[in-house]
Amino acid sequence: MNRPVNILGIETSCDETAAAIVTDGYTIRSSVVASQVDLHRKYGGVVPEVAGRAHIERIHPILSETLSLAQIGPEDLDAIAVANQPGLVVALVVGVVAAKSLAMIWEKPLIAVNHVHAHLQSAMLDQTQIELPAVALIVSGGHTNLYECTSAVDLTLIGKTIDDAAGEAFDKVATILNLPYPGGPSIEKVARQGDPKAIPFPRSMLSPDSLDFSFSGIKTAVLYHVRGQDMKGDNRIEAMNPQEIADIAASFQTAVIDVLVAKTQRAAEQKGARTVLLGGGVAANSALRQALHKMCEDTGREFLVAPRPLCTDNAVMVASLAYHKFKAGQFADLTLEPKAGA
Ligand code: KG4
Ligand code: ZN
Repeated sequence: MNRPVNILGIETSCDETAAAIVTDGYTIRSSVVASQVDLHRKYGGVVPEVAGRAHIERIHPILSETLSLAQIGPEDLDAIAVANQPGLVVALVVGVVAAKSLAMIWEKPLIAVNHVHAHLQSAMLDQTQIELPAVALIVSGGHTNLYECTSAVDLTLIGKTIDDAAGEAFDKVATILNLPYPGGPSIEKVARQGDPKAIPFPRSMLSPDSLDFSFSGIKTAVLYHVRGQDMKGDNRIEAMNPQEIADIAASFQTAVIDVLVAKTQRAAEQKGARTVLLGGGVAANSALRQALHKMCEDTGREFLVAPRPLCTDNAVMVASLAYHKFKAGQFADLTLEPKAGA
């Protein structure tokens, strides 16, 4: 097929209802994201039941807006793509049912996309050619994964968190510090005023060759710092001045980034990577972007990172990855189901 390939992507894996139309995997024709942050804020985290209901209310208007912004009708679409895993099943199911219905009614091929793999695609949007092999770090609220990539669709998982994801650690530490939800952006903002060397929080590297991550220890270290080793002391956070809180945020953020950069460098060395890719919600963090950029500069590797608005959940990444699956003839059928796990 020589004419451009237009793919409608749908994303409902967690708390963003999103749709996008992307041409040939790279040209964004339209992208609409409805965040549910305001709905979940009062609970301090995503409530699956609330997320599922909100997706049901929003999916239809989001799809209409996406088609009208792109000025594309169903006749111009070549495939319908959806993130069907991993995520909250009550949330994923809304996107999966919408995608299957449209594929059936409009008689289009259906493409199933892994949400975490799609995050990586956001870092490749401007690139038609990437120097391979590459390693990719995907850091989100649910995952901290290192992949070896031999093409856009051939990813091998080489490292993952054995407990909390990096974004989860940011969110939990923000709760300990009484900072607003979602925690990642709040910690980044407050950390700008803090001293990153103020508190030597632990950097868990696991065994010398390990590419896995562990962030539960640092979260506990922050908790002990605030509440005392036996957790019997007063919650000192109320009494702390803004500078003390900023110092904790900056020290925590730096410790997490040190580990992410060290493990990514370790992976790049082990795999002889010429390119390092960064994606996922935590990739929006400026300090992390700068630190990985510097590591790549110092070690002579190319660094590709998702544009900030495409780090957090969106459907451009779904439609973009689906293009490569379209080209490879990897289609799903109407028995497609949502799956919680990767
Ligand atoms: O990729 P994403 O939107 O959703 C998942 O697939 O999980 O990632 C959301 C996560 C949250 O944990 C959020 O706190 C974190 O990304 N995050 C950040 C920043 N912006 C979002 N973490 C650190 N710094 C940020 N600027
Ligand atoms: Zn995500």
